[in-house]
Amino acid sequence: MIGVLFVCTGNICRSPTAEGVFRTMAAREGLATGFHIDSAGTYDGHVGEPPSRDAVRVAARRGYDLADLRARQVVAPDLQRFDHVLAMDRGHLRALRAMAPPALKDKPRLFLDTAPHLGLQEVADPWYGTLADYERALDTIEAGCAALLEHLRATSLTA
Ligand code: 4NP
Repeated sequence: MIGVLFVCTGNICRSPTAEGVFRTMAAREGLATGFHIDSAGTYDGHVGEPPSRDAVRVAARRGYDLADLRARQVVAPDLQRFDHVLAMDRGHLRALRAMAPPALKDKPRLFLDTAPHLGLQEVADPWYGTLADYERALDTIEAGCAALLEHLRATSLTA
């Protein structure tokens, strides 16, 4: 099992979307049992809440079910527990590195590091935006998850 943790600020928009998209993509390729997939936020203000209504809505229109996800805050043991700790933007990356013990400082990475062809390093925050901003975030997350899945298939999956 390869552990993959997606991290954003509130765990109600970007990272739960990435969790749902990656889980669905892995399942479609018959790889569901190969991964332990989760998401968390650096900020505790939305803990226990479902993803934002707009995130759920745009994801559902493309076949991703986020409705049952609930926000949680990232904790230091996550850095040990997950093989891949993937930050949606540089702020999250800084926060994750700051909480990591010295041996794990390099473990957190930007989610889009494995999708260089996109020409983007960060997934823009749709939280104060319109439905179109959620659509754009989902576009980026879908492309990022497809690239991540190919990368992990090539480098980590033995089956
Ligand atoms: P997310 O979006 O990090 O993609 O879940 C946000 C949600 C809430 C806040 C910021 C970003 N907030 O400041 O409450």
